[in-house]
Amino acid sequence: MHLIIAITGCSGVVYGARLLEVCRQQNIETDLIISRAAEQILKLELGKGVNDLQKLATRSYSPDELAAPLASGSFRTDGMVIAPCSMKTLGTIANGVTADLISRTADVTLKEGRPLVVVPRETPLNLIHLENMAKLKRAGATILPAMPALYHKPKQISDLVDFIVGRILDVLGIEHQLYQRWRGDKSRWEGRLQRDRLRKYRGRTQR
Ligand SMILES: Cc1cc2nc3c(=O)[nH]c(=O)nc-3n(C[C@H](O)[C@H](O)[C@H](O)COP(=O)(O)O)c2cc1C
Repeated sequence: MHLIIAITGCSGVVYGARLLEVCRQQNIETDLIISRAAEQILKLELGKGVNDLQKLATRSYSPDELAAPLASGSFRTDGMVIAPCSMKTLGTIANGVTADLISRTADVTLKEGRPLVVVPRETPLNLIHLENMAKLKRAGATILPAMPALYHKPKQISDLVDFIVGRILDVLGIEHQLYQRWRGDKSRWEGRLQRDRLRKYRGRTQR
């Protein structure tokens, strides 16, 4: 498995950082691109520099390296994840504007029919954001908003992060144990079981 991971300038750079960590643990080959705006937010939110994340990747590129192998469809990969994805980067990809290596590589990923998973982080969303997401979806991307569920009763931020990273891996068909999957409402089943047992018991005692 060989993935391209891009981290862009929005809140939630931890999603990209954790994805890189998990890929390294699972021996998944990674090509990393971190946008200039993301550099700033990495420091702000995680107290980390670009080098700290580059150490986790197999190879890394600057967003200006438009001649990098990733910029060509002839460079074979199993897909690309942009986590988190700013509304700026999302807008450029949705409108075919391939101004840097991130948007060019995403464009190539779509034209080659490979999986592109986009993890937008913005709230609330304006109509331009929504229309750009719809365009990307129609072009074949998976829009996977950084919207963790709460049914698995998260206790810490890392539980919320792992839920989103786990869902990204699900889309790409990669096995993981990052979050507990929904297995139905246990309390409902337990309640029904107890009622059934009580009914049986009453049946026996009333005979
Ligand atoms: C601290 C900080 C947080 C930001 N958070 C977001 C965000 O959550 N979503 C978003 O779309 N843009 C956010 N932005 C704005 C983007 O960084 C800005 O649009 C930038 O041009 C994105 O560039 P990039 O897509 O090349 O990384 C944030 C900016 C800063 C400084």
